[in-house]
Amino acid sequence: MVGATADRPRVWVNCAASLDGRLAFAHGARARLSGPEDLARVHRLRAESDAILVGVGTVVLDDPSLRVDPSLVKSLPARPPTRVVVDASGRTPEGARFLDGSVPTIVATTDRNPRAYPPHVRVVRAGGETVDLAQLFGLLRELGLVRLMVEGGSRILASVARDGLFDRWTIYYAPVFIGDASAPPLVGGEVVLRPPDLVRLRLESVERLGEGYLASFTPQVPRARPDVPGSVQA
Ligand SMILES: NC(=O)c1ccc[n+]([C@@H]2O[C@H](COP(=O)([O-])OP(=O)(O)OC[C@H]3O[C@@H](n4cnc5c(N)ncnc54)[C@H](OP(=O)(O)O)[C@@H]3O)[C@@H](O)[C@H]2O)c1
Repeated sequence: MVGATADRPRVWVNCAASLDGRLAFAHGARARLSGPEDLARVHRLRAESDAILVGVGTVVLDDPSLRVDPSLVKSLPARPPTRVVVDASGRTPEGARFLDGSVPTIVATTDRNPRAYPPHVRVVRAGGETVDLAQLFGLLRELGLVRLMVEGGSRILASVARDGLFDRWTIYYAPVFIGDASAPPLVGGEVVLRPPDLVRLRLESVERLGEGYLASFTPQVPRARPDVPGSVQA
């Protein structure tokens, strides 16, 4: 995998999808698509990462802990990965599990969000309307986070894909169809790409994993990112 650059961490996107490319059930209801083999792989990957990122949509719908499950890895990392939640307007529910203070936690937000988060949460501001992910990734790199795992959901993956902000993208395909138009697609949201701006990936490997298969991709053409400043608040 390509190493971290001076302006952003090395970004590994990882997600699980149905064969028809859905990340969850109708209206975003959580689907446990990973089998035990994939779950173990995901937690190994988390353990090898400096930070794990999801969007606030995933927090609202799934309430993930974003931690490494000790029962799924041989040994826990010396430093637990930092949790990063992208929350432009302060939609994080009060009792969200990722706010429990058990491991370092960052909320990435915008200048327009007046919401106060618990004192143990580091607030990073990057962007005015939505969170500028290129800017955010630059700030994460400045904080010494070199290996960033991006887990979703649909809109975050769309932004990461559109802006070419990844070095590796793995998808575990579960042998199941979901087939509901309201189920979030692997890459969703308002991002519409047409030639010549299509995001093209290079297939690196495909392997059977449990009952499904794991496909691994790299970007075909590394995209340039604009250099934009942001602010970090302790
Ligand atoms: N199968 C898997 O591997 C997997 C993994 C994770 C999640 N999921 C599923 O994904 C679904 C959630 O996806 P989602 O699309 O609703 O939410 P999401 O991608 O988790 O979060 C999207 C939200 O983040 C905020 N945001 C701020 N800046 C953004 C930017 N630059 N680009 C994109 N989003 C930005 C926006 O909300 P604000 O403006 O309010 O901040 C946006 O609505 C759930 O159903 C969950 O189960 C599946």
